[in-house]
Amino acid sequence: MERLVIEGGHRLEGTVQICGAKNAALPLIAASLLSDRPVTLTNVPELADIRSMLTLMEHYGVAVKGPSHAVMTLDAGAAVNKEAPYDMVRRMRASVLVLGPLLARFGHARVSQPGGCAIGARPVDLHLKALAALGATVSLDGGTIDARAPDGGLTGGRIVFGSPSVGATETALVAAVFARGETEILNAARDPEVCDLAACLVAMGAAIEGAGTHRILVRGVTGLKPARHEIIPDRIEAGTYAMAAAITGGHLELTGARLEHLGAVGAVLEAADVQLWPTDRGLMVSGTGRPRGTDITTEPYPGFPTDLQAQFMALMAIADGASMIRETVFENRFMHVPELSRLGANVTLQGTSALVRGVPRLKGAQVMATDLRASVSLVLAGLVAEGETIVNRVYHLDRGYEALDRKLVRCGARIRREAAP
Ligand code: EPZ
Repeated sequence: MERLVIEGGHRLEGTVQICGAKNAALPLIAASLLSDRPVTLTNVPELADIRSMLTLMEHYGVAVKGPSHAVMTLDAGAAVNKEAPYDMVRRMRASVLVLGPLLARFGHARVSQPGGCAIGARPVDLHLKALAALGATVSLDGGTIDARAPDGGLTGGRIVFGSPSVGATETALVAAVFARGETEILNAARDPEVCDLAACLVAMGAAIEGAGTHRILVRGVTGLKPARHEIIPDRIEAGTYAMAAAITGGHLELTGARLEHLGAVGAVLEAADVQLWPTDRGLMVSGTGRPRGTDITTEPYPGFPTDLQAQFMALMAIADGASMIRETVFENRFMHVPELSRLGANVTLQGTSALVRGVPRLKGAQVMATDLRASVSLVLAGLVAEGETIVNRVYHLDRGYEALDRKLVRCGARIRREAAP
């Protein structure tokens, strides 16, 4: 196990290159199973979760070349249909995204039902509802999802989601690619990562309109072609570094970042007295001393993303004034609170809300990472806490942030990565 040892109190100044989006890359890699022609992805991030998904692709016989210099080619021409085993799905829930392409291409899919995770139960009922709406017979067989298409294959239909689920929208999109006739997806998630998946599927020859709106139309096609697609930049990584600049009162240029992908985050940071403006290379973010206490509610895109809630709480921990943080997307996403409190944050939990009373300074301590975004909020707090902060279990970080400590050190942070004793 490794840990990060952070010496607080250093302003960040410099440039950070934002990588390709983890949550765009994962569904894109899974979708390669749809096609018997090669798909080349560029701007691929170097992350543990990406390596896990590529291991799963190799389990199906997908030929993987790279990633090298962020370029990778996936050829599922010789892929065979197999069950996605529990130990793989358990390690990374996004493995469930192979359900749609396997069913669409082979007419049958068996995927171990992903359990919950630290942040919530994470059910997949909406994924299964989408497949059933296209004519699949879906059942649970001793912890394994079994989805079977009729003999003639899936047929287009209307899928109406009760809530805009990112993953379920991605499952519906991919499963509908070969479905005969037209599929209408209503109350679809509008996230940039959903749009990126649709753009890649269209490059592969799919017929999709309306991605990025609540209503997506898919017309079934009979085959796909080779394609090349550049993955969009990671808006959550960009938002994380924006908050790193803000919390240290520093000044960072985030190359590759797109303000329009940050949705409500831009407005919230401006309300908190953080300056940000687009440049021809990406986004400039400047902290202006203590941020102002600002309330947020996490919501589906383009609302404030749940994946930046923990990072924002770290920023508000040292704000001038109080802030109310409401988490409406996941039911258990406040595990960073007791750890931030160990650093001196003043946070009171009330159900799905957290009242954060800003304090003038935090003090370094040993803290424990529990999930990807909670762990990075502890790093942000450590950047500004007096003295030394030790963040344990940094494998959580490596799942979703490429070279986080190296990028921060290059901008003036004092961080060393070491084996935990
Ligand atoms: C994606 O997860 C992201 N993961 C998550 O990022 C992100 O937090 C989440 O979207 C919300 O933006 C990937 O893209 C790989 P959802 P996903 O389906 O698709 C409920 C990170 O840190 N729901 O939009 O699983 C669900 O329980 C990760 O990078 C159902 O009830 O999220 C949650 O309350 C964490 N039934 C809400 O919908 C379903 O069938 C939103 O979930 C599916 C979801």
